[in-house]
Amino acid sequence: MTFGNYQLEIYLQGLSGVLPSLPMDYAGWEAKAEVAMPASIWSYVAGGAGDERTQRVNRTAFDRWGLMPRMLVGATERDLTVELFGMTLPSPLFMAPVGVIGICSQNGHGDLATARAAARTGVPMAVSTLTEDPLEDVAAEFGDTPGFFQLYTPTDRDLAASLVSRAEAAGYKAIIVTLDTWIPGWRPRDLAMSNFPQLRGRCLSNYTSDPVFRALLAQAPEENPQAVVMQWVQLFGNPLTWEDLPWLRSLTDLPLILKGICHPDDVRRARDGGVDGIYCSTHGGRQANGGLPAIDCLPGVVEAADGMPVLFDSGIRSGADIVKALALGATAVGVGRPYTYGLAIGGEDGVVHVLRSLLAETDLIMAVDGYPTLADLTPDTLRRVT
Ligand SMILES: Cc1cc2nc3c(=O)[nH]c(=O)nc-3n(C[C@H](O)[C@H](O)[C@H](O)COP(=O)(O)O)c2cc1C
Repeated sequence: MTFGNYQLEIYLQGLSGVLPSLPMDYAGWEAKAEVAMPASIWSYVAGGAGDERTQRVNRTAFDRWGLMPRMLVGATERDLTVELFGMTLPSPLFMAPVGVIGICSQNGHGDLATARAAARTGVPMAVSTLTEDPLEDVAAEFGDTPGFFQLYTPTDRDLAASLVSRAEAAGYKAIIVTLDTWIPGWRPRDLAMSNFPQLRGRCLSNYTSDPVFRALLAQAPEENPQAVVMQWVQLFGNPLTWEDLPWLRSLTDLPLILKGICHPDDVRRARDGGVDGIYCSTHGGRQANGGLPAIDCLPGVVEAADGMPVLFDSGIRSGADIVKALALGATAVGVGRPYTYGLAIGGEDGVVHVLRSLLAETDLIMAVDGYPTLADLTPDTLRRVT
């Protein structure tokens, strides 16, 4: 697939007077989304922990790296395909789990719209535990594109097992367990609005559709929504320790990926515990402020992973960022807010536009700078910007 051809499509349409209806870069998506979204949802998505320093440095840390151009390579054809857990993906890009994606689209079914965008682009969607439509309904929209299920491990082990087995039955191709969110971080923007969507009963459909969760309720979820929220609060966050890893591993034969790992020692311990992949992330700066940019953690994670796949997110805003993360060793690169804004401003088409734009820029940088395959993008191709 020649992702860069997206620009030809746009220029050709321009010849008949048709201009793109959506902005062409992250700043534009963000600005338009702020207008399109209700204030409380906007601040939940755009905001982060503390004074949002971690969130900012996640982004600005990319500016300290530059790709060295190589000429006369003739990179007329680029190969962005990537092998991941036995699958061949058309590109290394994936959509990071975003728990409120369901309420970020105008029709309130953002999970389904995002899944359809995954089907159209071949970009896998990691589906959060927190969705407006149950995980089975989301998976039904994937087409031929593989999907991943992200587990927020509940304190009730039977409920965790039920969610994972439902994901297996629905055809998800990997389980991502997020480790950094057993408790919500300190988020001044949300606190100022006293807004936390799940406490208002949003995005709990995977719980209310689950037999184990339902059995814990005295009444059907529809009859007592308040009881659903109270039950959810009690169950949501499990402060896992390394002693829980054998149990987590035993839940599934699917590839198991741990999200939120940044320290090389944690990588080695996870690998010894039998996981299949590491997901290096600082949760987009939403959980703990005063942290390191995720991209600065990536090289150490890759080295300790010793050949095991490393997924990466936090701060990716452009194709240039994707290229840098790949060069620093990521096997696959995730975006969170960029596609969320695409959804808010254009629904399914908006997500497709954001993903195609990111992929086009990635592809064209590889073309212009002479790196025709992902294997050509090594740490040696980057230089520090001084
Ligand atoms: C609104 C929002 C909700 C999120 N919900 C989840 C979630 O349910 N599960 C999870 O593992 N990560 C969640 N994340 C974190 C993303 O998966 C990802 O780590 C982060 O957005 C990447 O940073 P970026 O937004 O800078 O691309 C969420 C992020 C945002 C912005």
